[in-house]
Amino acid sequence: MILCVTPDKKLNGSCCVPGDKSISHRAALVGSMAEGKTVIHNFSRGADCCRTLQCLEALGVEIQQENGKLCILGRGLNGFCEPDDLLDAGNSGTTMRLLLGLLTGQDFFSIITGDPSLRRRPMGRVIDPLVKMGAEIRARCDNTLPPICIRGTKDVHPVEYILPIPSAQVKSAILLAGMNAKGQTTVIQQLPSRDHTERMLQYFGAALTIKDNIICLQGKRPIEGQLIQIPGDISSAAFIMAAAVLVPGSQVLIKDVGINPTRTGIIDVLRMMGAEIDVLDQRSWNGEPVADLMVRSSQLKGVEIKNPLLPRVLDEIPILAVAATAAEGETVISDAAELRVKETDRLKALASELRKMSVEVKEKSDGLIIKGGQLRAARVKSWGDHRMAMALAVAGLIADGETIIEDAACIDISFPDFPDVMKALGASIRVES
Ligand code: S3P
Repeated sequence: MILCVTPDKKLNGSCCVPGDKSISHRAALVGSMAEGKTVIHNFSRGADCCRTLQCLEALGVEIQQENGKLCILGRGLNGFCEPDDLLDAGNSGTTMRLLLGLLTGQDFFSIITGDPSLRRRPMGRVIDPLVKMGAEIRARCDNTLPPICIRGTKDVHPVEYILPIPSAQVKSAILLAGMNAKGQTTVIQQLPSRDHTERMLQYFGAALTIKDNIICLQGKRPIEGQLIQIPGDISSAAFIMAAAVLVPGSQVLIKDVGINPTRTGIIDVLRMMGAEIDVLDQRSWNGEPVADLMVRSSQLKGVEIKNPLLPRVLDEIPILAVAATAAEGETVISDAAELRVKETDRLKALASELRKMSVEVKEKSDGLIIKGGQLRAARVKSWGDHRMAMALAVAGLIADGETIIEDAACIDISFPDFPDVMKALGASIRVES
């Protein structure tokens, strides 16, 4: 599939974005570990979250889809069944890493694999703590790469673990394993990462407390099924926000977006760059803050993006790099080496594709330096990465002619309706096979 984008149409109106991908994964996983029924509204329809559901079904979880809502019949903390085939996490790092946490507390054998991109992503970061908690794990390349074989245990050891990197997936894997530990699991984070697992477990009634950057969880305490409404994904909204800021004369209202403070770095950075964004009608859905975002076009200036902000804009670097191309002066992104082990090496991919659009960009080991200037229309490619595909489509809206994005079917991973939503707001985007 290719996307063909032409500039010069302003964006106007209101829209919604898909249910948050991170929260959807957690609602399904935690709901499966609960007693009784969990009902989830606005579950992400992206391919990544479907993988989580398929893996849970393969582990014996009954899942029904009725009128846009999802019903999960929980199996309790350790009532899952041994799968009779490989579990396939597809492109989804979150599915693989969080599921390994859940499987640590299941007294059976499973093998989990993924697509070629996921089979290149580092898993030692979750294998190390989960082995300390009692799982037997074997993986390719000296226990670092998928496929991964895991044999869980009824007797998960509680650990005290200092996270070596600010990763929500590692933190969440330990906490899900800790749900089956006899005693207290403690996770210490040096820089906070997204906290949806903590909020979801608390909402389900788990004995989890947070003080400063220390998370404590008492294991072996059953949790009860809940009713959940998933907020819109701010990481999907980010593409629309940037498009509205960048295309002159635009004004867009994005409704029901999750504004968890561990995720709102995109609003902070765009505002630092000079964007006009209003956060309206703040409310809370199952322990997660939600609001409507009003975004208007503005002239931007270059900024510095680095720690401690980085974990809060981790997934938004591709679209911020595009915003930087339209800013006056230079934007310097640092402390972002983690982007090299995402769905693709995003630093390398951004440098390569933005150069095709005549951007002056320097690749550093941990970031990028981008100089603002007029984007040239070009034929670019997504590198099989959904966030690259959508960021480049937004770049096409401010280029000087028709931009073609190759290999764009990957937008299905998180935002299958992206072209339709953009078209409804007035953008000129065509999908061709
Ligand atoms: C996610 C955590 C982040 C993020 C990913 C989703 C999650 O990854 O980049 O898209 O849902 O926990 P890391 O935990 O590897 O930083």
